[in-house]
Amino acid sequence: MPILEVNNIKKKFENTEILKGISFSMEEGQTISIIGSSGSGKTTLLRCLNLLERADEGIITVRGEKIFDAADELDSPEILREKRLHFGMVFQQFNLFPQYTALGNVTLAPGLLNDGRSMAEIEKMGKELLDQMGLSDRMNNYPHQLSGGQQQRVAIARALAMKPDILCFDEPTSALDPELTGEVLRVIRELANKHMTMIIVTHEMAFARDVADEVIFMDEGIILEKGPAKEVITNPKQERTKRFLQRMNS
Ligand SMILES: Nc1ncnc2c1ncn2[C@@H]1O[C@H](COP(=O)(O)OP(=O)(O)OP(=O)(O)O)[C@@H](O)[C@H]1O
Ligand SMILES: [Mg+2]
Repeated sequence: MPILEVNNIKKKFENTEILKGISFSMEEGQTISIIGSSGSGKTTLLRCLNLLERADEGIITVRGEKIFDAADELDSPEILREKRLHFGMVFQQFNLFPQYTALGNVTLAPGLLNDGRSMAEIEKMGKELLDQMGLSDRMNNYPHQLSGGQQQRVAIARALAMKPDILCFDEPTSALDPELTGEVLRVIRELANKHMTMIIVTHEMAFARDVADEVIFMDEGIILEKGPAKEVITNPKQERTKRFLQRMNS
């Protein structure tokens, strides 16, 4: 059974159709990269999957459970919050809570979940996750005391702490100086090696080629091309994909 099935997602903003029927599925442990020009709808798609945006049409199924159907009534805020937990989201602008330490950022939301984990267990997990992100000596630092790359790694730990089925990244390195990009890509690569299920919107073509199992090329609200990462990046079939990749390489 696929971990995620996306069926015919459509989304309009002010009468402009931004997503024109997006369908794909992915298996547990897979990494999919989404590439495409600015404005093609990549962020909107991630927001619809995370239920931060309500699609106008379509169905989203996680582990066989229908978590969204545009034909259904609106969910209550409580149900919506619960359904959102299937997804983790890492944004371009890390969005850490400035008044909490690195460890506080990671443990805050799990602490509010009441999922049977004690605060001591949650702290232990938080420390392990920060350690895994290479931040064992930074746990008690506040966001303003951390570099962009470190903040983004805290944001990744924070998303993982909620144990999402699928972790989504929206251009996780775009706000970073080039020398800090590598350390963030490295931890994402490690997660891929550990078979975390991930959807990564990225402009880093070499990274998409090397780390993702599959690449989706989005163009004007549709999936124009999808296939094994190496094939799509190094030998695309569609003219528009070729042109996009040429632009990215120049
Ligand atoms: N809340 C909104 N209201 C109106 N239009 C929106 C809204 N969100 C996105 N759009 C429009 O939808 C289109 C797709 O935007 P989206 O952010 O999904 O593109 P993207 O592929 O992520 O682009 P980029 O690579 O620049 O991040 C754009 O034309 C954008 O202006
Ligand atoms: Mg975007």
